Amino acid sequence: MLAHDAVSVMNLEECAALTGSLEIACPDDEILAPLGEVARALQRLMVLRPTGDLVVTLGPRGCLAAERATGTVLQVCLGPRPAAWVRAALREAPGRINGSGDRFFALLVRAHCGTRTGGRRGGIAPAAVSAVAGVLRSYDLGLDPTPDWVVVRRIWTGGARTRAAAPRERECGGSTRAVPAPRMRTAFRVAAGPLIRRG
Ligand SMILES: Nc1ncnc2c1ncn2[C@@H]1O[C@H](COP(=O)(O)OP(=O)(O)OP(=O)(O)O)[C@@H](O)[C@H]1O
Ligand SMILES: [Mg+2]
Repeated sequence: MLAHDAVSVMNLEECAALTGSLEIACPDDEILAPLGEVARALQRLMVLRPTGDLVVTLGPRGCLAAERATGTVLQVCLGPRPAAWVRAALREAPGRINGSGDRFFALLVRAHCGTRTGGRRGGIAPAAVSAVAGVLRSYDLGLDPTPDWVVVRRIWTGGARTRAAAPRERECGGSTRAVPAPRMRTAFRVAAGPLIRRG
């Protein structure tokens, strides 16, 4: 199934179950899991199986986006200060996060299909940025998020996708850069072609 999808989306428990079935170790606690270990598991999965891009959601830690073509794994999440503002706001309205996974998935599909960029596909990283930002906006917490609230950290630098050698050497400390979310467009077109499947 993974082979047929342009992007497969799962949460960390689902990811750990999937990789575990291939005897690839992966931590499953979205709050405590070392991201380098999750990224390593995704990289191994992409080496062992013909997957598309992979996205693993991590609750308040945003998501990991693994790009098949390069083997690079990025974390897309709120920056430290916005994350603190959101945590504080959610303490007053904890129910707002209900259905986050479904919202994230819908927003990712929309961004990936290019409906928000006038039909141009931008790849998995900008789609993940758009989804993280969109879920936050959907909470309607009375905050005023700007594009720089979402940051992208490189967790794993990919090599050739068939090379599994010395993956630890490619693990990165986590450089951070802000990626502006795509501008909202009102145009809508029905998604066709490759599937994005939620795990
Ligand atoms: N507490 C939070 N603060 C900020 N963003 C959040 C929070 N919880 C979830 N999100 C956002 O929603 C996305 C999806 O959430 P999550 O990882 O919890 O999905 P899920 O476990 O599949 O779904 P659900 O929890 O709805 O069953 C995350 O990637 C993140 O962008
Ligand atoms: Mg969750």
